[in-house]
Amino acid sequence: MKEQLLAIKQTALKAMSEAKTLQEIEDIRILYLSKKSEISSLMSKLRDLPQEERPAFGALVNQVKTEIELALYEKKGKLEEEALNQLLATEKIDVTLPGYQFYQGQIHPLNQVIEDIEDLFIGLGYEVADGPELENDHYNFEMMNLDKDHPARAMQDSFYVDENTLLRTHTSPVQARTMLLKKGAPLRIICPGKVYRRDDDDPTHSHQFMQIEGLVIDEKITFAHLKDALLTMVRHLFGSERTIRLRPSYFPFTEPSVEVDVSYQKKDGTTGWIEVLGAGRVHPNVLKMGGYDPDHYQGFAFGIGVERIAILRYAIDDIRHFYTNDVRFLSQFKGVNR
Ligand code: PHE
Repeated sequence: MKEQLLAIKQTALKAMSEAKTLQEIEDIRILYLSKKSEISSLMSKLRDLPQEERPAFGALVNQVKTEIELALYEKKGKLEEEALNQLLATEKIDVTLPGYQFYQGQIHPLNQVIEDIEDLFIGLGYEVADGPELENDHYNFEMMNLDKDHPARAMQDSFYVDENTLLRTHTSPVQARTMLLKKGAPLRIICPGKVYRRDDDDPTHSHQFMQIEGLVIDEKITFAHLKDALLTMVRHLFGSERTIRLRPSYFPFTEPSVEVDVSYQKKDGTTGWIEVLGAGRVHPNVLKMGGYDPDHYQGFAFGIGVERIAILRYAIDDIRHFYTNDVRFLSQFKGVNR
């Protein structure tokens, strides 16, 4: 039986050295190492041997199996390597084939406007401030000088979550929050963000839109500072040939208040005006509630509608385009900036 075993080993190793394909190697594995192989059947004949020869024979069988396994493993590795080398030698990469196309989105037109305005004001020394969209009545109205029964609240009739919590109707509450945070120190901020008002959506109205608030508080701030900031912004956005016109207006949180119009050239060559934002000097009550002494500090504030800017810049005919996520619309603003 021992000779038989060694003979099997010889044929197995010989077959292995002659094998040329991975399939042949697999066939050899099944023939010599599987449960149905000759070696396995020899193992089952172990019982026929005298008791004292059994351990030595068992050990020999295992040794033979290990040898065959090792040889098999080695040969398999060699063949695999050869196959790979052959593949590498015959296959060439065609570098002229087009690569995978990845769909690349672009920044939403409204965010392009916001980023553009942020860039401008950061360059002028302003910080970008932030506040929650779900806001307390206290910050949204009270600290903006609109107490509970103020008639101007009606203009912003809004989405209340409970009696004291609402979706903010403007970005002005960020003024109040930042003033308290700065604890009486001078400040310059702009705060872009979403605001909400109960409104029926149509081409020019949306119940959700975006504003950018600006607020500066310091000593010796005059109306001229406000006018300069507004003119700088308008020219940055619409071009250096533009000018602005201020009309008296009313906001509870500013005094005096203005509506700001931007000039444009009509087809007949005359000058037309388009209203773009509201602004004013910070109301003494707002300063006081925010922790500033109105005898020492003054400020100005403005609030601009982001959609309005984008509509004017890109000649968009319906505000709802901004929110319906139609890629045919959005993909027109690839890298557009001014
Ligand atoms: N908060 C005002 C609005 O939403 C805009 C504004 C801000 C006006 C700051 C003046 C100063 O209508």
